[in-house]
Amino acid sequence: MSPRLIMKLEVAQVRPEAGDVLLVALRHPRRPLLPAATAGAHVDVHLPDGRVRQYSLLGDPADRRTYRIAVKREAGGRGGSRWLHDNLAAGATLMVSAPRNHFELSAAAGRCLLLAGGIGITPLLAMAHALAAAGRDFRLHVFARGRAGAPLLGEAEAFGPDRVVAHFDDPPGTRLALEALLREPEPGTEIYCCGPAGFMDAVREAASGWPDEAVRFEAFQPLHADGFVPEPFDIVLRSTGATLRVPAGRAAIDLLREAGIDVPSSCEIGVCGACVCGYLAGSPIHRDVVLSPRARRDRFIPCVSRAVGALRLDL
Ligand code: FES
Repeated sequence: MSPRLIMKLEVAQVRPEAGDVLLVALRHPRRPLLPAATAGAHVDVHLPDGRVRQYSLLGDPADRRTYRIAVKREAGGRGGSRWLHDNLAAGATLMVSAPRNHFELSAAAGRCLLLAGGIGITPLLAMAHALAAAGRDFRLHVFARGRAGAPLLGEAEAFGPDRVVAHFDDPPGTRLALEALLREPEPGTEIYCCGPAGFMDAVREAASGWPDEAVRFEAFQPLHADGFVPEPFDIVLRSTGATLRVPAGRAAIDLLREAGIDVPSSCEIGVCGACVCGYLAGSPIHRDVVLSPRARRDRFIPCVSRAVGALRLDL
């Protein structure tokens, strides 16, 4: 994968949204059109201190005049959202990558169920635009605790009551609603889901009877600290047969780079999928939040995932 183009974009507009969200529109200072994006794509936003954050593009992908992102202020986060909330104003500039998409709509012509938890609505709004433009059948379900805290609800509801259903409830109520919605797998229907970790877990559980390939997730939060204690393990390279020891305190991706293997990366916290590689044998411990159960059979995310013993990578 080639490195992504990084552009200096201008903030065209900032607007507060429900749910402690800042809506940001970005444009190129000289060019009328930005690089094309497909529905579900995200951009990397490079903060002045070197940190990089991923944000889904939420607007109509056909409109290339601006990129629109929604930044939720994460009180317990790593500080990136706080900086953007406190410092962005119209006219400011931001370093932003060209879009990349790990959450693409499939080319199948079937019905799509879009399930949005809170701020997870952002890539699903772009998908709703693309599906509507293609004349495809879709239903967008928006889940939030209440109308007042649901970001971008007005934009979602503009698709009309036949296409958008809002569910306002507490987490146990959301779980019940998801169980009712997903109880019966619908042949030909695909599910696209984005939201906080608890919401996506609830979708995974409710959709356990659906085929893996019919359910796709987009995560924007890393796996929570869950008491996992990393142990050293080995990676074996298919190309050279070399064995690299990954100490407990380091990531496999670092050892790969030190061995001269160019592994693309972006988030380095297991949420974007940029660093994905294949594995041929071994017992990985998947610590990412991007791979589907099916992908985990032969794919590995070396920025966060680990293994027991030796893992043979297709590199
Ligand atoms: S760099 Fe984002 S998942 Fe590894």
